[in-house]
Formats: sequence, structure tokens, C-alpha cells
Amino acid sequence: MKLSVIGAGYVGLTTAACLAQVGHDVFCSESDLEKLSKLQSGVMPLFEPHLEKVIRTGREASNLHFGSTEDGISWGDAIFICVGTPPLANGEADLSAIESVARMIAKRASGYKLIVEKSTVPVQTGAQLRRHLAVHSTDSLHYDVASNPEFLREGTSVDDFLHPDRIVIGVESERAAELLRAIYKPIIEQKFTCPVHNDCPKRQEPTFLVTDTGSAELIKHASNSFLAMKISFINMVADLCEAVGADVAQVAEGMGLDPRIGPAFLNPGIGFGGFCFPKDVQAFIRIAQKSGCDFSLLREVEKINQLRVERLIEKVRNELWVMRGKKIAVWGLAFKPNTDDVRFAPSIALVKALLQEGAIIKAYDPKAMEKAKAVLPDLEYCSDPYQASHGADAIVIVTEWDEFRRMDWTLVRSLVDRPLIIDGRNMLSIAQLTESGFHYVSVGRPSVSPNERGQHRVEAKVGAQGESLPLDDAQEQVLARRRKK
Ligand SMILES: NC(=O)c1ccc[n+]([C@@H]2O[C@H](COP(=O)([O-])OP(=O)(O)OC[C@H]3O[C@@H](n4cnc5c(N)ncnc54)[C@H](O)[C@@H]3O)[C@@H](O)[C@H]2O)c1
Repeated sequence: MKLSVIGAGYVGLTTAACLAQVGHDVFCSESDLEKLSKLQSGVMPLFEPHLEKVIRTGREASNLHFGSTEDGISWGDAIFICVGTPPLANGEADLSAIESVARMIAKRASGYKLIVEKSTVPVQTGAQLRRHLAVHSTDSLHYDVASNPEFLREGTSVDDFLHPDRIVIGVESERAAELLRAIYKPIIEQKFTCPVHNDCPKRQEPTFLVTDTGSAELIKHASNSFLAMKISFINMVADLCEAVGADVAQVAEGMGLDPRIGPAFLNPGIGFGGFCFPKDVQAFIRIAQKSGCDFSLLREVEKINQLRVERLIEKVRNELWVMRGKKIAVWGLAFKPNTDDVRFAPSIALVKALLQEGAIIKAYDPKAMEKAKAVLPDLEYCSDPYQASHGADAIVIVTEWDEFRRMDWTLVRSLVDRPLIIDGRNMLSIAQLTESGFHYVSVGRPSVSPNERGQHRVEAKVGAQGESLPLDDAQEQVLARRRKK
């Protein structure tokens, strides 16, 4: 089927490339001319595992094209709107990019078009779109408007898009439902060449859930707000653990064994960031408020999250006493691992606050440094975590990249001025770090110094927490270089 995707960001690019991968003829448009020209010449404007390969395959097979939104609108039988919906100052979602695409569709499209909102939008945006199109379109345009919220996660977006748990569509007509079912058929049946797994395991077919448009819109905001609530909940449990001397990792492990709770999103730390949770929680609060419902629970979720960075800084202050002139190595800038995205990343607030208190920051992130430079120009960026740690009074871990589980701790110990690690993601093993001679401070777990080693015997594991990983080739090379110096 001929499909159009408007907006080549994390969601749009993944959607376009994956729909081409499963056999559709896709046109992806982008209004940022620099980004568009990169895509047209085969250069990636963002980092996302596997995406470059999927895009290359699509372009070589001539079923993935990039161009202007005008051309995109005339191309597809279905148009997926994947533009950004950032927060306004009052927390509401800014829908101006959606409105501008709708205006262009009304002006330029003719024949039948299925217009699909994939961007995360407040409930009733579909209804607004329908009203807008009714007022502005010509008689030659016939259309349906559907909601198809996207649940992919940055860092695993290709895998998530091709192997989803559920596909939700909100429609008001049988025709729209059937078209979307046909578009997603290869994914529903899991019949396509998988670019992620060499020997793709037999996956469970996703649930294809058909709802009305408003309910589909609400499913997205409610899901993200619920997950954010889980994170803020465990963060408060972590604070309580610190107050009473318990270990949040053990508490989370015990909670997660209950299938009604589950272990996911029970890892405390510096708080949630990125282009989804912070803005979606804010938007959901505003939607509820405008509809006369006081969702005060979510205001607390947001408030707890906003205080996480300050709480971590407090730990740094407690250890370093005077911040001015202290050298701090910041490991990780992206809002989560396996992405280069720093939008609403906790690292930004953290680094700005540390700089303001006079600390000297040396930062390292495997993928996000280019994007970070635009928002955090006043720090030294380093080529690897060892360089960042040189002469440091403290290492602060902000993003749980696997690379930080593969460190040669003896080497790190020899480089720093003071062997202090403040782990904002609880990603390392207390035992391993203290054995290596570090004073190790994490979130909701006991702080342990080397002379207390052996006293903290029980270590719970939630997800990959505390797991030490073998070196990959690139890291072997970095290590070899560093050891020679
Ligand atoms: N990033 C995620 O993990 C994620 C996951 C699920 C849902 N979402 C939602 O998806 C939407 C997009 O998110 P994103 O992270 O991809 O944003 P993004 O900012 O990375 O991408 C949006 C792109 O749309 C382009 N654009 C804006 N107006 C345009 C127009 N008129 N024509 C063509 N291109 C246009 C922008 O230049 C930008 O490149 C948001 O509503 C977001 O909440 C994001």
C-alpha cells in the first residue's frame, strides 16, 4: 500500500522505515531541511539501534522515499502524522505542528485519505481534526481520521515497532479499521524479514485493539502516566529506605514478584526524562483539569520527579562538602541508554546545577554528546569514561549505558583523585565497587565505603542492576589505549 509519514523524528523515521520493511511503499516527509537533506543522502540525523540498516534496505529496494510534506500528502492512501507535540508553558501539548499538517492536507489532498494521528495528542484531538478538515477541505477530499498511538521506546524503537505487545487503533468507521488492519497485517501475523534478530524467535502475535478515537488517545496518555507513577512511587520508597536503613533493590525485587505489580519500572534513581513521560504527564494533568477532573495524583508524580535531581545533588554535596572547584565526571547524558536524545534529560538540570555551584564538569556519553553540546556548551566533553574520570573528585552516573558495567575499576581507581561514585541509576554492584576501593553511593541502598566491605552481603537484582558485563571490541581498544598511557 502507498503510505505517507509526516515528520522524520524518532517516531516518524521508525514508522516509515518499518512500514517499508514489511512491504509498503512509503514516503516520509520532513520540514527541517537540514534533516531532510541528510536523509536524502543516506546520512542518519539521529541514533537509534538498527534503524540505519532498515532505512538503507528500504531505500535500496526503492520502497522508502524522503521529500517534502506537500509531496507526502499527495503520495499515500493513508497519512501518518508523526510531528512533535512539545509542552507549552502551561503544560498543555502544543498542537501547532499537527494543525499545520491538517491545514496542508485540507488544502492539497484529494480523493480518499485515511489521516492517522500517531503523535501523542490530548483526547479529542481527533474530533478537532475532523472539524478542522470539514471547514477547510475542498469537496474533492474524502477522509477518515483515526488515532494510532505509538508505544515504541527510544533505544529499542525498531524492535518495539515490529514486535509490539499491542496495536491500538481508534476509529469511527469500518473502512478506517479495515485499512489499518491491512497496513498492520504483516506485523499482526509477524510475517516479515526481521532486521533485528538473525534468527527471529517466534513472537507472540500482538493484540490488535480497536476502540473509538477518544479512547485510543486516552490509552496512550494513561499508559505513560501510569508508568511515570510507578517510577515516582519507587523513588519515594527509595527515600523511605534511606531514612530507615532498608535496601530499595530488595524491596523492589519482593514487590516485583507479585504478577499484579511486575518488576518493570521499579528501579529508583534520578527520575524520568525524555520526550514522553515529563510532557505526557503534564498534558494529561491539563486535559483532566480542562475536563473538570482534578488528577492531583499525577501532580504528585510530577513533583516527586522534579525533586529527584536535587536529591542526587544533595548526595554529591554531602560527600564533597564544598562544590566550588571540585572536578566531577558525569557518565551519561542521554535520558536513557541506547539513544542520543537529551530532551528533558535529568542530566541537563543536574549539570547546570553543578556548574552553577562552581564544579568543573567533564562529561562522557557514548551517543548523546553532539546533541548535549547544543544545550550544555560549558563543559569538557571526553572521548571515553576513563578520560572523564581523570583527576575527578567524584564520578556521577546519570545514564545506565551497558558500557559502564564493563569498566576496568582498578584503572578507574588509579585515575581519580578521590574514589567516590554516586550512582544515579543504581546500576552497579555495591560489592564489586567496594572491593575495587570505591566509596559507593546509590539511591535507596546503603552507602558503603571500602573499609565496610563485606558488611553488605545481600544484593538484590532488579533488571540488569548490578550486573557486570564482558568488554566488547570497541571497549577493549579504549582500555588498551588507556592502560598504555
Ligand atoms: N520519542 C518517543 O519515544 C515517542 C514514543 C511514542 C510517541 N511519541 C510521540 O510521537 C510524536 C513525535 O515524537 P518524536 O520523538 O518523533 O519527535 P521529533 O521531534 O523527534 O520528530 C518530529 C519531527 O517532525 C518534524 N515536523 C514538524 N512539522 C512538520 C511538518 N509540517 N512536515 C514534516 N515534518 C514536520 C520535525 O522537524 C521533527 O523532525 C510526539 O507526539 C511524541 O510525544 C514519541
